Formats: sequence, C-alpha cells, structure tokens
Amino acid sequence: MAFEIDPKDLIHPQNYGVGGQPHDLWTHLRENAPVYRCEIEKYEPFWAITKHSDIMEISSKPEIFSNAAGPVIMTDEQVAGRTGDESAAFNNMRTIIEMDPPEHRDFRKVASGFFTPRSIHQLDEIVTECAREQVDKLGDEGECDFVELIAQRHPLRVLATLLGIEREDEEKVLKLTQQLFAFDDPDLQRPGEDRNKAQAELGLEFYHLFNAIIEDRRATPREDLASLLANAKMKNGEMMGPLETFGYYLIVFTAGHDTTRNAISGGMAALLDNPAQLDLLCKNPDLAKSAVEEVVRWTSPVNYMRRKLLQDAEIRGVKIPKGDDLVLFYGSANRDSDVFDRPFDFDIERHPNRHLGFGTGEHFCLGAHVARLSARALFLELANRLESAEHGTSASTQIDSSFVVGLKTLPMKYKIRPAA
Ligand code: HEM
Repeated sequence: MAFEIDPKDLIHPQNYGVGGQPHDLWTHLRENAPVYRCEIEKYEPFWAITKHSDIMEISSKPEIFSNAAGPVIMTDEQVAGRTGDESAAFNNMRTIIEMDPPEHRDFRKVASGFFTPRSIHQLDEIVTECAREQVDKLGDEGECDFVELIAQRHPLRVLATLLGIEREDEEKVLKLTQQLFAFDDPDLQRPGEDRNKAQAELGLEFYHLFNAIIEDRRATPREDLASLLANAKMKNGEMMGPLETFGYYLIVFTAGHDTTRNAISGGMAALLDNPAQLDLLCKNPDLAKSAVEEVVRWTSPVNYMRRKLLQDAEIRGVKIPKGDDLVLFYGSANRDSDVFDRPFDFDIERHPNRHLGFGTGEHFCLGAHVARLSARALFLELANRLESAEHGTSASTQIDSSFVVGLKTLPMKYKIRPAA
C-alpha cells in the first residue's frame, strides 16, 4: 500500500503528544523525498530536510542558511503575537541562537571559554553530588514519576548553580520554564485566555529574576558563569548591553533545562524498554559515557531547527528560492541508515556515534559538555545503585511539542541500593 504523507504530522505538537517523533514518516521521506516542501494550514510553509548528510552540509554554510528568523516554525497565531504590545520589548531581544556570523561569533565568544571541556571539569563535583542527591530521594524502593522526581530536578540544580539562582528560587524558575516551553500543551501552559500575553508576562518574570542576579554579580563578582555574563565586554571594549546580557541568561537556562531533562527521561525510558541494555549498564557503569551519546541520539530532544535561505540554492537537485524556510530534523538524521548501523536499535556501546543531537557547525550546542557531564553523572549514579527498575503501573505520556520533544511523565518501579 502506498505511504500517505501528511506533512502536519511533522510539526503539529499534538501529534508528538500522542505518538512521539514521526519515525515512520521520516523513514519514508529519507528514502523517497529527503527535501520535501510542506504547506500546512495555519503554519509558515517550509522544506523538510531529513537526511544526515544534508543537515551537515547546510549547517556548514551559515552565511547562506541563516538563523536570524529564529529556530521555530511558527503558527499564524504566534506570528501575530510577535507584533503585540506586551511582547514588544522581548521581540527586540536576540539571543545567540538567532544570530549569524560575524555577530554570532563575537557573542558566542563571550561564554565559549567557560564551556570548554577543561573548564567544565570544575563542575564534576557539583554534578556528582547533585546526582547522588536525586537518587537518594528515591528511598529504598517504590514507584515514582521519574520525570517529576529526577529528570527535571537534576539539570535544574546544575543550571541554577551555573547561573547563580538561589535554591529557594528553583521552584519558581522551574514553573516559569515549564510554562515558557509549553505554548502548545494545555496541561503545562500558564492559565489565561491570551497565550501571547501570558508568554510576555513570563518573559518579564524571568527578566526580574535574572536582573537581580546580574546586579549582584556586578557588585561582587565571583568565579562563575553568572559573573562572567554580568561583566562581559564586547570586542569594542564596551559592556554587553542589558537586553543581550539578559538574553544570554535566558538562552543558557532555557536551552539547557528542558533538553537535558528530556534526554535523561527518554534515556531512562529506553533502558526500561531494553532491560538487557539496563543490565549491561548496571554491570559496567563505565559505559555511562557512551550511553549518554546513545541517549542523545535516541531521544533527539531538539527535534528540529529552522534556517532561512539568504540566496537561491539547490539541494539534491531540488531548487529552493531565496527567502524560503528549511527545517532540519535532527531526530530524523539520527536514524539515518547511511550513517548508523541498526539505527532503530538502542545500543549504549554504539561506536562510532556521529549523532546530530547537539547540532553541528556554527551553532553547535554551547552547553554540550555540561549536558554530557550532568547526564553521565546521573546515569552513573543510577547504574551503581539500581537493583531493579521497570515501567510503572500507568503508561508514560509525551509533551505536546514538536520543537523540544520528550516525555511529560515516566512512571517507574524500582529498588535502590544505598550509596557506597
Ligand atoms: C541533552 C541536552 C541538550 C541538547 C540535545 C541540546 C541541543 C542543542 C542543539 C541541537 C543546538 C543547535 C541549534 C542550532 O542548530 O541552531 C543547541 C544550541 C545551544 N545550546 Fe544546547 N542542547 C542541550 C543542552 C544544553 C545545555 C545544558 C546548555 C547550557 C548549559 C545549552 C546551551 C545551548 C546554547 C546557548 C545554544 C546556542 C548556541 C549557538 O547558537 O551558538 N544546551 N543545543
């Protein structure tokens, strides 16, 4: 029977909420139409790019494939909201993910030294301690929602430490982040009729919170990322502007939290679905490092990124005019059989693992080493302490989102050993 392509399955948040990432459709597109034009009611039109090699090629040419229009394909409602009064201040704010070179390089340089593997090693103790604290919360045995209790708490603590957020503000920040990213999920949204207005209010709350930290770090700088951002100077010797400084806090926090949470919860779900892999990890905790790479490939929490074409181009013989949008589906590239043996097997020993879960090229994830380090610490702690684990009594659920994708809940039954 002929495969019927319904392009809205690629982008409708509710489709992801029901069935997760559209792997059957992606497989079909990779094999039959890897550069596919999508026109979907109420959405901006775009070209779906599903092959690993095409995403590599596009990402190597930021001067042609621009980030300036922002990472997300928007609905008409969102586009209309961008011109609303409430969000005007935040519409002028651009973060590094929406910049092109050479400006992008200048801004990225502000924090890139901090994010190198060498400096990030200072975080080792923090992530290890945090992972232990999370697993301790499980007690000896029982059933929990792994997302609520562990997966969302661990990256929150790590990012809060990096950005100088006090412990007593963590709950508030968690709620704000959930609401900020839950534009399409009624269970997580901020209550209220006007969703654009609610998003603008959220932006303001973040602004007040981060601004207090920025002022504190200007008055008394310390050896941390918060102080580095608060006191950053640009190439011309001037201080980074207030909106840009706030934007940096916001992008580090928002890009770092839900992504890592979804990788950790999706990774745990994959281990529960594949008990032999869980057993392998528990018997060989050293595999935590390669397991994290496989988890990021498998879950691809950043499902896609949008690029705008700055000049006419041709990809695989398909002519695409200047001004069109392309959507790079990392989730699809990470199952491409031209690059991965047995792409639909979850294999924590996979080597090589050239996944694109952290992107590639100009905008390669700035926080990839933080994400790796913190996820590894958690899977290591779990590997050392899980006596048994299996799916809980109710089924897991997915977030209604097609951009940062993953689990909303993951019920899990477990038995835990005390810390050594
Ligand atoms: C498993 C967790 C994570 C995943 C899957 C992930 C994925 C990504 C991807 C795919 C991009 C590329 C965007 C593009 O192609 O335009 C990106 C960019 C970025 N990520 Fe991550 N990320 C993760 C964790 C983090 C963490 C922990 C931080 C901060 C501590 C972070 C900060 C950033 C920033 C600032 C950018 C923008 C970089 C730029 O535009 O130059 N990410 N991330």
